[in-house]
Amino acid sequence: MHLLRRPRRNRKSQKIREAVAETKWSSKNLIQPIFVADKTSDISSLPGQKRFSLKDLEVFCKSSLKTADIMGVILFAAVEENKKTKDAKEALNSNGLLPTATKMLKEFCPDLEVITDVALDPFSSDGHDGIVENGRILNDATVEILTEMSLVHAKAGADWVGPSDMMDGRVKAIREKLDLSGYENTSIMSYTAKYASSFYGPFREALDSAPKEGDKKSYQMDPRNWKEALLELDEDIYEGADAVMVKPALSYLDIISKVKTASSVPVVAYNVSGEYAMVKAAHDKGWVDGDAVQKEILTSIFRSGADIVITYSALDY
Ligand code: PBG
Repeated sequence: MHLLRRPRRNRKSQKIREAVAETKWSSKNLIQPIFVADKTSDISSLPGQKRFSLKDLEVFCKSSLKTADIMGVILFAAVEENKKTKDAKEALNSNGLLPTATKMLKEFCPDLEVITDVALDPFSSDGHDGIVENGRILNDATVEILTEMSLVHAKAGADWVGPSDMMDGRVKAIREKLDLSGYENTSIMSYTAKYASSFYGPFREALDSAPKEGDKKSYQMDPRNWKEALLELDEDIYEGADAVMVKPALSYLDIISKVKTASSVPVVAYNVSGEYAMVKAAHDKGWVDGDAVQKEILTSIFRSGADIVITYSALDY
């Protein structure tokens, strides 16, 4: 057969395939989520992940984490139920889990970027990212606490704060607070297009942080919308975000792609707990090769435009 084009010629050897691969990524593009708690325990819905006590995190940090060739870690606090209140004041405790873990990581793993989660749900007796009054989530009152919380994290040495709450105007308020307090070099990784997703289940189990009443649809985005993601993007860029995030990743590859095209700052995608847990479960059933599937998923997230991916599998690479 005479054919002008035989695309297969560019696939005929591993050397060619490597040289012409259009999507390349490495562990250096990955961020590992880490859960910090009073006691170390396993997380049944996230096989391979743990809640770390500060002591055990220190041991982990001094051993394998220190040499991990990843971009960094993002820290979440698993707070005891008796420390959760309506005003989430434990979020502002400068000796709390997140600031203490941040200090420790910067001491023993100084080369890793430390990103802290800024939202109230792990500290809120209502299980919401903001302050709840008569069943409604208060935007401006929440933003005030988030700015204080960001300052506490910056003082502890966080390289980035990561507001994951989806309140309006919080990036600007946090930027102002940090700058006026002498933390102009602390970066903001904003959860820009965070959807009201059912893929967060295992994470909420890990932190026991599910909303006690209602859902998060009045602040997290409707999965049916994409233009709204561009509106959120405009806001966050204008307000000073250093990186913008799309979350979840796998069911939102189109959003990642659109945000990448429109964004003048790096795009982060969060390969969330439910996405990770599904792969683990299917692997355990013997239905898929979990490692190969996970690698293919990460490749698809990078191919769609992500510069950085937060994934529970970061340390596997
Ligand atoms: C809440 C927060 C959530 C995640 C990160 N920050 C869950 C939620 O919004 O309820 C989910 C991450 C994951 O599922 O891996 N501030």
